[in-house]
Amino acid sequence: MHDHLFSTKFTVFDSSDELPDTDKNLLLKAIKTRDDAYAPYSGFSVGACVLMDNDEIFLGNNQENAAYPSGICAERVAVWSAMATFPKGKIKKIFISARSEKTEVNNPVAPCGACRQAIAEYETKQQEKIEIYFTGETGKIVKAHTIRDLLPWMFDNSMLS
Ligand code: THU
Repeated sequence: MHDHLFSTKFTVFDSSDELPDTDKNLLLKAIKTRDDAYAPYSGFSVGACVLMDNDEIFLGNNQENAAYPSGICAERVAVWSAMATFPKGKIKKIFISARSEKTEVNNPVAPCGACRQAIAEYETKQQEKIEIYFTGETGKIVKAHTIRDLLPWMFDNSMLS
């Protein structure tokens, strides 16, 4: 018997002013689309902005439903829209921002497990790392340099064979 230890790396930015201008603009797009989310049930709005390797940008926000499980997260709206449009494209970066009607979200909001798994699928497929930036409404921005840092020991297609 022996123990193993995963270590994961994150970069933390104190504010968007610390980001390069191009990344700051992509985060602003995530914030803008966040405020168009359809979230009447949770009051929790999330926006996602995907940058592709051909510089195309895809936006997504959460879409809720009176039948709660039929709703979908912002990240998967953006990622699946990108991959549906450019099936051979590669995702370079994803920016995520969240806000709540109930309280100020001042901590970084990481993508949920299902969205991590969806992102992992495409990182595996494209064999190039996807950078994931996430933040709340205010406060710090966290950058994960690869989905593996958010989803260590992930399930992927290698386990199917
Ligand atoms: N939500 C997202 O859009 N992304 C996440 O990663 C976490 C949660 C949405 C789903 C639901 O509409 C609301 O936030 C509350 O969970």
